[in-house]
Amino acid sequence: MLPRTFACRLTLWLCPALLPACGGDKSAPPGLYDTSTGGGTSNEGAGGAPPKEPCATPPAVSGDASLFEAYEDYFRIGVALNGYVFSDNDPARSELAGKHFNRATAENAMKWGSVQPLEGVFNFESVDTFIDFAEARDMQVHGHTLVWHQQTPEWVFQDENGDAIDREGLLARLEDHMSALAERYGSRVAYWDVVNEALEDGGGYRSTPWRTIIGNDYMVEAYMMADRYFPDAKLVYNDFSMWVPAKRDAAISMIEYLRRSGARVDAIGMQGHYNLVRPTEKELDDALTAYADADLEVLITELDVDVLPREGTGANISDTEDPAAGLDPYTECLTRSADAAMAARWASLFDVFVRHADTISSVTVWGLDDAMSWLNNWPIQGRTNHPLLFDRELEPKSSYVSVLRAANP
Ligand code: GLA
Repeated sequence: MLPRTFACRLTLWLCPALLPACGGDKSAPPGLYDTSTGGGTSNEGAGGAPPKEPCATPPAVSGDASLFEAYEDYFRIGVALNGYVFSDNDPARSELAGKHFNRATAENAMKWGSVQPLEGVFNFESVDTFIDFAEARDMQVHGHTLVWHQQTPEWVFQDENGDAIDREGLLARLEDHMSALAERYGSRVAYWDVVNEALEDGGGYRSTPWRTIIGNDYMVEAYMMADRYFPDAKLVYNDFSMWVPAKRDAAISMIEYLRRSGARVDAIGMQGHYNLVRPTEKELDDALTAYADADLEVLITELDVDVLPREGTGANISDTEDPAAGLDPYTECLTRSADAAMAARWASLFDVFVRHADTISSVTVWGLDDAMSWLNNWPIQGRTNHPLLFDRELEPKSSYVSVLRAANP
């Protein structure tokens, strides 16, 4: 388990397109993550007992109503796309993406490890394909991400001898990276996640090579640089668990400090990797109110609802958990009660979002359909999760109906 996870991460750093099971694939067949067809990753040892309850019956809707059209008066509805989808391999998925979503984030293609796997070696092919796919469908492009401690190759932080590079060297590399992206894509990217996940859940600054090498002002430098290279884009600070009060308050103080230091930070990205119970409506309400009071636009950037049991509530991709019996209960299908709980959860989330539509400019789901979700492989590899609005056959789920209804309160 551990070596495979590590191998995945390493490969993602080097080149996400190389390893389909790590989510950066171009060639993954539909159902790659669909263990119920027998064609996917093994569930052996991870539970997999047949459900005791009947399967949920699909809602009696056609899926003809477009999600983004339903939300036109509130905010944009976005989707994260992996290489398999945006390479237009699968006409049904391409059509689904264009029909329901009017903004798009590349799940991996715009991360450093994919864009510049080796120094000075830029892989723009995937980014070109992604942006072309989005623009052909009038989807606003969200750039993800520039400064992150994950999926950034080791060479970025090392000099030619393999020792830690110095502050000036790392800033120069960041500038080369940004300038290359700016030169090629200019204002085609409407929002940039400049810094991703700089805070611990307790509110302290995460210790990352960016901070250790550049110093405590690394975010001031990063946002000022991004402002120079992407003057037309909105600049975002993106993180998970942004509803946790300590982290929420730390994020606000941090952005106030960045602004006082002359940096432009326009918006907060609340990643939104949630489960059935956390955050509560109140926790979410409180966070959205606090961000609005701090004069921040909010984007819900990475929304999915984990229906499987797990220990943690965050979304730190290095926090893996061990498989055990009972942790993969919906391999055959989502049961009726689990489906109802998911539908209620999506309804309540969107009720909150609609109430805060003055603050929220977009809600982006982290994957097109259940087969495409990273949650089939994190924090435990090879489970069958059901965290999104369309099922593995691309049919709308009860949760899709909930989201549509929430647009007409
Ligand atoms: C974090 C990152 C995303 C993605 C998810 C897992 O939330 O911001 O890019 O890697 O983890 O898919």
